[in-house]
Amino acid sequence: MTVPAARRAGRWTTSIAIGVLASALALSAVTAASAADPETRLKDTAPFRVGVAIDQRETSGDPGRVVTEHFDQVTAENHMKPDAWYDGQRTLRIHPQAAAIVDFADERGLDVYGHTLVWHNQTPAWFFQTASGQPLSTSDADRSILRERMRTHIFGVARLLSERDGLFGAGNPLTAFDVVNEVISDGPEADGLRRSEWYRVLGEEFIDLAFRYADEAFNETYAAPDTDRPVVLFINDYSTEWDAKRARYLALVDRLLARGVPVDGVGHQFHVSMSLNVAALARAIDAFADRPVTQAVTEFDVPTGTPVTTAALDAQGAYYRAAFEVFHARKDHLYSVSVWGLNDSRSWRAADGAPLMFFDDLTAKPALVGALAAAPAPAVAVAASSRCVGGRVVLVVTSTNLADAAKTLQTSSAFGGRDFSDVASGRSVAHALSTRAVSIPAGGVTVTAEGGATVSALYPAVTCSAAAPR
Ligand code: XIL
Repeated sequence: MTVPAARRAGRWTTSIAIGVLASALALSAVTAASAADPETRLKDTAPFRVGVAIDQRETSGDPGRVVTEHFDQVTAENHMKPDAWYDGQRTLRIHPQAAAIVDFADERGLDVYGHTLVWHNQTPAWFFQTASGQPLSTSDADRSILRERMRTHIFGVARLLSERDGLFGAGNPLTAFDVVNEVISDGPEADGLRRSEWYRVLGEEFIDLAFRYADEAFNETYAAPDTDRPVVLFINDYSTEWDAKRARYLALVDRLLARGVPVDGVGHQFHVSMSLNVAALARAIDAFADRPVTQAVTEFDVPTGTPVTTAALDAQGAYYRAAFEVFHARKDHLYSVSVWGLNDSRSWRAADGAPLMFFDDLTAKPALVGALAAAPAPAVAVAASSRCVGGRVVLVVTSTNLADAAKTLQTSSAFGGRDFSDVASGRSVAHALSTRAVSIPAGGVTVTAEGGATVSALYPAVTCSAAAPR
């Protein structure tokens, strides 16, 4: 929506006319621009969960405060990966950093997006070895060993997390998990799958098994009774913004869905560069839009390149804005959008130049301002109801988000004029308009903002019984 010049100049005048409306008007809404104001919380502007990858360092002090302020979901950057669940004796236990993250999320009311159950990286070598340290073969016996290891791992993770914070779907902050990560090949293998150790031993079957085990563990065995599959199961990969890789990804997802594999979501890491047109991000999401899956941007970051100049930071702000506009426009398909780290020096891509939304002193970068500015303006809405107070009709007009659009309220009716200057952005405020009448017919209110936008609402007829004697 284009922003009227008067809005940009901050000079809105508004009039409201109250009268009988000829046509039935439902509560309707127009939009005005929202402020790209770093005081605004990113999570308040987004219609999807906004996440950030963290470790224990971001669970306390100023980083913890900023995470809680702007995000409603966290991903463990490293400490829920396969190898993080084992101590030196190969004993399964929750890593202290993962424990700190789930405790933090639990205390602050954040969701936890798990990352990741099955991967070719950051996985203990012994997963793929016999007891004597030889590589597993593709014999039936060795394939069984690997299947069982996967199952034991996935069930162990679900058990440890549910022991800590309760069954899934009943207050446990974990609501999603990347079940398999980066299983698509970068080259043109016929089946499009990465030649990993999982693949070498089990073939494509390992992907089906991972989802089936995860569904059983997180959504049955350790799910609260009366919940419906409370943990959303994702496949996740990088370079999905590139056509050839995405075609392989889509083909795999289609095969999984055709086989009835319980894959709920498709993740796009989106570790991108400013040279990539954001239209490629749109294409990646759009490619899956008609499949029966939700999607997530799981690891977004965009380096400036080096040196990190003011101009580059501004360009990055424009990039974040354009990318988040793509995400907003696809909100119905997005479960969450996560950035891969809080502040620049914490990024795995820091050497490529300041990829994230916060400076190291935790002040907002142009990237955050851009992400905030991408949000469509909150809907301006008005509702009206008539009621009796002390035997007289009072019309109650409830306005939402009128702050930027309407500062004064004028009426030409018996209800008189009202000052709306107490309306704060993002809030619903009720104004009671009194009249001396004891009875009014059904009617409507229309707010006309400068620029011509109108919002209207109906109220019913009301007749009050005699005023209570004073
Ligand atoms: C990265 C972490 O950010 C680093 O700290 C770690 O050294 C390596 O892994 N794709 C993924 C993430 O799925 O798990 C990776 O995270 C980044 C690429």
